[in-house]
Amino acid sequence: MLTRRKFVETVGIGAAGALTSSWIGARGREDATWNALSPSLEASSQAMSVIPLSSNENPFGPSAAVLDAIKKAFGPEGATPGRYSNATGALRDTLSKSLGVTSENLTLGCGSTQILRTATHVYTSRTKALVGTIPTYEECAGYAAMLGHPVRAVSLGRDFQMDLERMATAAKGSGLVFYCNPNNPVATYTGATATRDFIARVHRISPETTILVDEAYFEYVTHPDHQSMIPVALEDPRIVVARTFSKAYGMAGLRLGYAVGHPDAIRKMSEWDSGSGTSSLNVLALHAGVAALEQGPAFVEAERARNKAARDFTTKWFADRGMKSTESHANFMFVNVGVPAKQFRDGCMAKGVRVGRDFPPFENAWCRISLGTMDEMKRAVTVFGEVLGKPSAIAAA
Ligand SMILES: Cc1ncc(COP(=O)(O)O)c(C=O)c1O
Repeated sequence: MLTRRKFVETVGIGAAGALTSSWIGARGREDATWNALSPSLEASSQAMSVIPLSSNENPFGPSAAVLDAIKKAFGPEGATPGRYSNATGALRDTLSKSLGVTSENLTLGCGSTQILRTATHVYTSRTKALVGTIPTYEECAGYAAMLGHPVRAVSLGRDFQMDLERMATAAKGSGLVFYCNPNNPVATYTGATATRDFIARVHRISPETTILVDEAYFEYVTHPDHQSMIPVALEDPRIVVARTFSKAYGMAGLRLGYAVGHPDAIRKMSEWDSGSGTSSLNVLALHAGVAALEQGPAFVEAERARNKAARDFTTKWFADRGMKSTESHANFMFVNVGVPAKQFRDGCMAKGVRVGRDFPPFENAWCRISLGTMDEMKRAVTVFGEVLGKPSAIAAA
């Protein structure tokens, strides 16, 4: 079995160096790419207090219960951060209970980024392409390209929805379909019935293709046909679901994600990962993850409602001024601001609001705006109005 450690050894020092730098280069893609594109603006953002609407984070960060659990983990009875994080049992148990799965259906990652890279590594090759939409979250495509594995990009369909027919056709003979739902950056969601039909169709056309369903923003969906693909993945080793604590649970900087699937798929992925020897998991994040889940469904429902209120407010603000947004089911929105994204972004940044970077091929008019608190959005729309010459009727708080 080729594991991650063996892979790095196999490719040799020079290539391993290249691998590492690309690996690090891809890390924090949301912000790092933005920083590289706008270094002067980034420097000025450090000097003033900026409303950060560029990386799809939870503006409130971790809850009090999560912060308490982290503090306790430093105590004499908790696992100290001086120990390697091999004690994943409590988190695995809590996750298993909350999802109704067993531990062999789960593998943990340093953010879902690790899950996405592992799946790309395990399921694509020089002859087995990665399939995804353009645009989508770039992690898998960037990693496949770095490995020299082909990537097939499929344009979006009507209303920025995934074009499932063309995706299924492109999937023929491929290794992995990256199915990002809700889809970042466009924020649209494909209902569960259509998703299940798509999976069945891909497997009729291409029985050996694996589908990675990325549910990073699952908690924010308000679509009537809203269901996780976890039950489908548990039955079929050709489907893997990726989840994260970075978004609704506000733990982006703590780095914790996981994959759920059939034991065969999970074994394949964790065999690759476990070869790295010491765990890549953050011991504080393991404690934080347990506390996050123990808050139960009421926490997620409240977070979904809080986000929806900010989303509805911002969507209406743009619509009232004749600017169209896609139908967002996430904690960010994709808006036609009518000017190049860079122009809008630079204008907003000069006034203390940082919005999303360019997302080709839509950078000429569309911008991704992550949702902050309601108060932040009220202040942000005032800035948007000034930058776009469409004044806001709502005074900044
Ligand atoms: C769709 C999607 N998947 C995965 C990730 C990776 O998140 P993390 O590694 O923090 O879990 C992101 C981050 O923004 C994302 O937008």
